[in-house]
Amino acid sequence: MRGEDLTRRRVLGIGGALGLMAATGLAAAGGMARRPPTTGAELRSAVPLPPPFRVPLPVPPVLAPVGADRYEITQRATTAEILPGVRTPLWTYGGAFPGPTIESRRGRPITVTHHNELPVPTVVHLHGGRTPAASDGYPTDLVLPRDWHAGHGMHDPRAVVTERTREYTFPMDQRSALLWYHDHRMDFTAPAIWRGLAGLHIVRDDAEDALGLPAGPRELPLMIADRAFAADGAFAYPSLDPTLRELPGVHEPYVAGVLGDVILVNGAPWPVHEVDAARYRLRLLNASNARHYELEAVTEDGRRLDLVQVGADQGLLAGPVTHRVLPIAPAERYDVVVDFADVPVGSRVVLVNRLGVDRTRDVMAFRVARRAADDSRVPPVLATDLPTWRREDAVTVRDFAFRAGRVHGRHGWLIGGLPFDPARTDVTTNLGDVEVWRLVADVHHPVHLHLVGFRVLSRGGRPPLPHDAGLKDTVSLRPGESAEIITRFDGYRGRYLFHCHNAEHEDMAMMANLEVV
Ligand code: C2O
Ligand code: CU
Ligand code: CU
Repeated sequence: MRGEDLTRRRVLGIGGALGLMAATGLAAAGGMARRPPTTGAELRSAVPLPPPFRVPLPVPPVLAPVGADRYEITQRATTAEILPGVRTPLWTYGGAFPGPTIESRRGRPITVTHHNELPVPTVVHLHGGRTPAASDGYPTDLVLPRDWHAGHGMHDPRAVVTERTREYTFPMDQRSALLWYHDHRMDFTAPAIWRGLAGLHIVRDDAEDALGLPAGPRELPLMIADRAFAADGAFAYPSLDPTLRELPGVHEPYVAGVLGDVILVNGAPWPVHEVDAARYRLRLLNASNARHYELEAVTEDGRRLDLVQVGADQGLLAGPVTHRVLPIAPAERYDVVVDFADVPVGSRVVLVNRLGVDRTRDVMAFRVARRAADDSRVPPVLATDLPTWRREDAVTVRDFAFRAGRVHGRHGWLIGGLPFDPARTDVTTNLGDVEVWRLVADVHHPVHLHLVGFRVLSRGGRPPLPHDAGLKDTVSLRPGESAEIITRFDGYRGRYLFHCHNAEHEDMAMMANLEVV
């Protein structure tokens, strides 16, 4: 039971909504007027950190099927050299962090069989997938490790699926988009992702292939994630229980989110990538637990290159949107084209995080190596299939507040005043209904819905921001901010989730059930 589980948790000295608001800078700001750039606290690495832009950017290999549209992944522990000369133990999909990239075609179903050789139960969720509930990775649908006995940690009686191997079926009946797969075990998602359980999944289709966007080596998936390293080389993480068997959550001062002081892209620290002086398509994912970024591409002479956005979380925009700065919250994806044609050969373009300080300002660099022909293009019309739901189409309007609160005497994070309970249905909706959800936040909360894509209708009572364009599955609420989203509950009936994608908030109960009937 969730309740028993929460009372078992250690009661911490500090915490509570007020302590937390102070820690995140809200109280000091005198309310909601000033928006602090981060929600969370930064862990400092205990090993020397390498200079930036030395390690080449890895691109995760595309997973080969084992049969027609069938994939197998073994989840296992391994070690890797992430910082030069330092061995880091990892939990991985298939022995690598990030895991192997799955490439699928729209409308062509695949199955992915996961084997769990890790020391803890796991759950696989395809983030952004339009997936039947049985394969969506509900947080108690566990894949058990080999030596797991009842009595170890939380076991929910509703966790009916407790196998050592599990086959997930993905119909892929959805728009082409960059998705990602990651762990989703109840109460322990954040440390599992932190230890390495995350990988990319790209859905493609013929219409997108025909657009002429930069492709092949000029299409780069970039999984951005911060981490910190302990003295022994392991990823540091402030878990209440380092074995991850008993106590979920993190200790103070990290309850608002765990930030690292090393920025990894595709698992490499501040990497560098050699590029042609041509257009590149960068498929950005923020896979950080809690860190937000505001990305800029800055040349050596201080120019900011255009970030021409062609896609959002759930695929192509109707037409390109040009940004100079692109905010990206945990779990969000942006598909942007950057043109290096005017950058002098031999010079560098740095992807900078405006919200970072010192080392966390740098993300990665591109070194322009040579002039090159470029027949790619960014057409003015990218897609014509974007939903056009209007406010008047909504049959239901719901309100959800995302706020700090107490859960059985401990610090927690609540939706509508309630902590996650797998036994309670929070929202029941009819398949096919259009709904408007009004969301409001205390600190930063990136709010994610399973199953559906949505559009942002408004932000703070005003029109959406330029980066809210297109079809989203995660919307970033800033401190004190409200937003309205609209969606149609299409796809499948069954039990799904919505939650905050700050992974620490999620583990500390900021999640709710969504039942499509
Ligand atoms: Cu990215 Cu419920 O998850
Ligand atoms: Cu998801
Ligand atoms: Cu949150």
